[in-house]
Amino acid sequence: MLKGKKILLGITASIAAYKSILLARFLIKEGAEVKVVMTQAAIDFVSPLVLSTLTNNKVLVDISSKDSWANHVMLGRWADVFLIAPLSCNTLAKMAHGQCDNLLLAVYLSSTCPVVVAPAMDEDMWYHPSTKKNIIALKEYGNTIINVGTGDLASGLFGEGRMAEPEDIVLFLFENFFRENVLKNKKALVTAGPTYEQLDPVRFVGNHSSGKMGFALAEALYEKGADVTIVSGTVYQTKKYKGINISKVETAEEMYNACMQLHEESDIEIMAAAVADYKPAEIASEKIKKNQTELTLQLIKTKDILATLGASKKSGQFLAGFALETNNEKEHALNKLKTKNADMIILNSLKDTNAGFGFDTNKVSVFFKDESSVDLELASKKEIAQQIVELIIQKIHV
Ligand code: CTP
Repeated sequence: MLKGKKILLGITASIAAYKSILLARFLIKEGAEVKVVMTQAAIDFVSPLVLSTLTNNKVLVDISSKDSWANHVMLGRWADVFLIAPLSCNTLAKMAHGQCDNLLLAVYLSSTCPVVVAPAMDEDMWYHPSTKKNIIALKEYGNTIINVGTGDLASGLFGEGRMAEPEDIVLFLFENFFRENVLKNKKALVTAGPTYEQLDPVRFVGNHSSGKMGFALAEALYEKGADVTIVSGTVYQTKKYKGINISKVETAEEMYNACMQLHEESDIEIMAAAVADYKPAEIASEKIKKNQTELTLQLIKTKDILATLGASKKSGQFLAGFALETNNEKEHALNKLKTKNADMIILNSLKDTNAGFGFDTNKVSVFFKDESSVDLELASKKEIAQQIVELIIQKIHV
């Protein structure tokens, strides 16, 4: 996610500094090169030895020692992002007023890269009018603030002021500074999960789709720079990135309507939802009682979203659908390409072990309009999604 990115991590004196160790670890795990600059007071909270071992770089604290001088200008120029986490109330105030009495502040004042800060302090300090003013000043100087969280505070109180969690800070950096831009300005629509078709006030007809594949595809598109909306049925998935839009629906009809609204504007559409093909002809207004030995349900067809999008597809729009087959897989997949006017059909076979509904892995074959196809080996849904998005990028020649 952050391969080859250079992150300068600034650490100031706050109890939350213990989280900086994890933060440095996560940044490195994501492929970043990390250098650390700390204030003298931060050393009381976290050991430079731990950080230098983790980052494989010398931790910088002082502007000069007897025989050397830290080049603060070059440090600020080396970094792609200068991340100060945690940012204490004291350093915040100094940054807001342009003070320069330590190396971290000298680097801040001379850095040319984006500066991102994750404040951490007690709730009463966070709410103090001077803190609010200082935060506004930092924003005005063009710095980016990662919002504090709510939870247990060092004072023993519960409230606002916690530093954002290290995982969330890493995601924030990626989303805001390091997303690829190959799909920039492209709008993508992905459907995910099952649809639930109501039977009576307490029951529905549904299926086992987890939504994992749809969410993984949406994330892969977003990582490449697309503006992504997921139209999702009822799932337990949560979106990884804040910037992904979600439209929550329940029934096939609601999913159809949500997709139709987005269709005109969409450049890439992937129908990964397991949409009910049939729904109860009538929804009972009261709970159906078990007073008959047999119960026959009349089902009627739902609208086929993929086929409708295909029928009104404009030039430049790319449409992909899924096929879940148990026999004559290739033939059915090719048939779906034609009948639904799709550009790509991703074939899941129920015969493959560890693939499909509920699994974290999948194994698919991808068929294109020109009858070419690619078999993707069993891999995590995340990896499969990334490979599918690469194939789409090749096809749309961006
Ligand atoms: N699909 C859809 N709207 C529906 C039903 C399905 O958009 N009402 C989409 C699915 O999201 C998937 C593709 O159509 O991308 C294939 O769905 P599938 O159920 O496998 O095929 P069907 O077209 O329904 O045909 P059949 O069940 O006969 O195989």
